[in-house]
Amino acid sequence: MINIIRVKDYEEASDKAFEVMKQFLVPGKVLGLATGSTPLGLYARMVKDHEENGTSYADIHSYNLDEYVGLPLEHPESYYSFMHRNLFNKIDIREENAHVPSGLGEDLEEQARKYDEMIDNEPVDIQLLGLGSDGHIAFNEPGTPFDSGTHVCDLAESTIRDNCRFFDNDMSKVPTQAVTQGIGTIMKAKHILLLACGANKAQAVKDMLEGPVDESCPASILQNHPDVTVIIDEPAAALLK
Ligand code: GLP
Repeated sequence: MINIIRVKDYEEASDKAFEVMKQFLVPGKVLGLATGSTPLGLYARMVKDHEENGTSYADIHSYNLDEYVGLPLEHPESYYSFMHRNLFNKIDIREENAHVPSGLGEDLEEQARKYDEMIDNEPVDIQLLGLGSDGHIAFNEPGTPFDSGTHVCDLAESTIRDNCRFFDNDMSKVPTQAVTQGIGTIMKAKHILLLACGANKAQAVKDMLEGPVDESCPASILQNHPDVTVIIDEPAAALLK
């Protein structure tokens, strides 16, 4: 079941997202976190709420969706750095409780298997998702099996193009692989909160909500999840019936 919330713009989308997230900011909850530009407004609101209202993350755990393969942790565009810069360093979550999959080391598939095991042991209460312009969620590109677990994947050329803005607009600097939670992993979350803003998401939003449930649009699988909230702004909703 997808509950669709249509809002005017990015700021309103971030406000609504925070309203949903706020219910989960209580001790014992497990958050599934995402990177990309889209969640930044929500993270800013979580930081403000921590600073002004004292909301504590000391007993909250988190699992991130994905990480580039081969970027050192301290690289400014590693998702490890992104999460510390935009959220973890500004709240009181404990480092050992804030999990980001590793894209470094010898046996990435074995590490991926262990990541899934950890998530199985503490199921995610709310999974935050952005949406790729090709319909990807996390780094699950079109064609990824719906039952996939955390795995190493190749990035689609369109994703490398979308993300090269973070790498001096140089496509050759964007990693070509990532470690990503699988679609099967994501679907285990009890509640899913997907945010999509901007005209470049309009086709993916339409395919996700109105298209068939098909691996050509990874996000379309959310139609089969029991409890999803999708927040979209006007430009992202432009192609909906
Ligand atoms: C990236 C991330 C996704 C994110 C998507 C959209 O490739 N792996 O998790 O949802 O692209 O990014 P943005 O929010 O910047 O549009």
